[in-house]
Amino acid sequence: MSPSPRPLPGGIHYGGDYNPEQWPEETWAEDAKLMQEAGVTMVTVGVFSWARIQPDYAQWEFDWLDRLMDLFAAHGIGVDLATGTASPPVWLVRLDKDVLPVTADGVRLEFGSRQHYCPSSDAYYKAAGKLVRKLAKRYAKHPALALWHINNEYGDHVTECFCPASAQHFRRWLKQRYSTVDALNHAWGTAFWSQHYASFGYVEPPRTAPGPVNPTQLLDWRRFCSYALLRLHRMEREILRQHSPGIPATTNFMSMMKELDYWEWAKHEDVVSDDAYPDPADPASHVGAALNYDLMRSLKGGKPWLLLEQAPSGVSWRPVNVPKPPGLQRLWSLQALARGADGIMYFQWRQSRAGAEKFHSALLPHRGTASRGWQETVRFGAELGRLAEVAGSRTAAQTAIVLDWDSWWALEGTDHPSERMRWRDLLRPWYDALYARGVTVDFVPPDADLSPYRLVLAPNLYLLRTEHAQRMAAYVHEGGHLVCGPFSGVVDEHDHLHAGGAPGPLRQVLGVVVDEFWPIPDGETVRVGEEAQASLWSEWLVPEGAETLLSYAAGVLGVLDGLPAVTRNSWGRGSARYLSCHLGGFGLGSVLDGALTEAEVLPVLDGAPPSGVEAVRRGPYLFLLNHTDREAAIPAPPGTDLLTGEQVGEHLRLGPLGAAVIRTTPTETES
Ligand code: GAL
Repeated sequence: MSPSPRPLPGGIHYGGDYNPEQWPEETWAEDAKLMQEAGVTMVTVGVFSWARIQPDYAQWEFDWLDRLMDLFAAHGIGVDLATGTASPPVWLVRLDKDVLPVTADGVRLEFGSRQHYCPSSDAYYKAAGKLVRKLAKRYAKHPALALWHINNEYGDHVTECFCPASAQHFRRWLKQRYSTVDALNHAWGTAFWSQHYASFGYVEPPRTAPGPVNPTQLLDWRRFCSYALLRLHRMEREILRQHSPGIPATTNFMSMMKELDYWEWAKHEDVVSDDAYPDPADPASHVGAALNYDLMRSLKGGKPWLLLEQAPSGVSWRPVNVPKPPGLQRLWSLQALARGADGIMYFQWRQSRAGAEKFHSALLPHRGTASRGWQETVRFGAELGRLAEVAGSRTAAQTAIVLDWDSWWALEGTDHPSERMRWRDLLRPWYDALYARGVTVDFVPPDADLSPYRLVLAPNLYLLRTEHAQRMAAYVHEGGHLVCGPFSGVVDEHDHLHAGGAPGPLRQVLGVVVDEFWPIPDGETVRVGEEAQASLWSEWLVPEGAETLLSYAAGVLGVLDGLPAVTRNSWGRGSARYLSCHLGGFGLGSVLDGALTEAEVLPVLDGAPPSGVEAVRRGPYLFLLNHTDREAAIPAPPGTDLLTGEQVGEHLRLGPLGAAVIRTTPTETES
């Protein structure tokens, strides 16, 4: 048995992607020196080096990489060595055009960008495996090697392929899943619209069709596509385990991404890593970033993770790429740290002079060491050095949000009462409400042990397996508190409606049943209670034991007026609230306040932080982050601010985009 991977060296990692193939070797030497000056501890190398390592079918060139690895070892800089498989060289796609992916409309995508491979291509699988094996054997014992970086951002451009090889792979996967074609026919409900299959051999991927495609076929396709990419990842992981045992491996996730079920993926990571590109032009993007970071922390049950990519300033792929004002990259990096990251890395080290990303910011911008970007790079590197003791500590949460990719995929299927019910849109107001209250949350999968949490929120669980609902009911029965959002418990794992109507297997614990869905037309809202407003969605709700907390005051076409909108049910030693509509900020906030109080969830500070200020506790460290352009006064506990080394008292003042990382005394950390 191979040894379990050793952890990354301690401290907070600092660095970025380094693309040496874009530069002459004299520049490498200068870069290594500048990296030392900036306090860089780790660089990601080789993400796009396949064509440089293997310029042609039978040609291998490793000497340059040997020299580069030696250079970093000599400078005490660790390497997150990429397997380079995200961008196959042109010779491979010319040898076998089936490597190139095909869209749902049958268009084969051309070479000339990146990630141009079909997840089910045999030729790609073999060529990638060969490359990884050679890299692993060659560098397994290299002193600079700190971490393996598998592929790059799986699913960034291509998440699915509709070519014949993919179709065959899909059929194999279906056969494994269902064993018999009868089981598939049942699951897919093929009695409908004459879709019966006499054999697996007739099944194809859900290509562009005349009308709505079978929803369970679509759902299984989503499951399959996540699996097909994961299979590639596992192939590489296995090779690394064999030939480079003991070295940890990661692949950089893309925050809360619909196409990949990261609960499944995270099982194969030694350390979770994320690429995050919040938009500086969006005044609320730090809240979305917090949400993503909470997910990254949660994917391995609270273990520290790495922010492997972010932009030092502007990106180059939005229609308009607004740079980060001075101080913003520091603040947003501290935010990742607050939410459990042990590494702050960037794309990229040196700004490219050619290619699609030549206008993307870098730690070392075109203007060189005179630039404001470089000044910030050096200053922040020094600050991170002062935060080393934070590494390894845990961000704790008493509240959890259930996230289920199966349910997400099914929710966003076709032909629903409303197309507007999108997971991210449903989730966000719930997260925003907790964020504003300074309540930290974890994400959990639907089969999680919920007992560590005082409060569990399910903003939407359209697809809900009976066994998962039973776990939730048992959690409530034992004294837990649950809040469940609308259009939940609607279908089972095959996207078949639960008998008797929503919320299906949660009907008893919630003490309600839905008579009919009443989606709200675009642009309209309905009034709930005295002041709250709901948009997108409402339901004709019938209590079966639950008390009514809020009623519809003026519903769609006036039909629901006076009927219950929000309910609460006592169940065992706990409580279960149900929201039958998509409530806006104020209304949702009041329902959540009731649940937070009943569950005795403690916010990070006494009371909500001032507006625009983020408060997160990580172990004994209290992070206070001022996301506004005004000074903020914050009632904080006394302690030492690690950023300044100074004692801070009860009334901390933070300037615009200011931050403090306060080491509090143990008694103050009890929560
Ligand atoms: C990421 C990618 C990097 C670079 C970066 C630019 O998606 O992994 O290679 O393209 O975006 O923002």
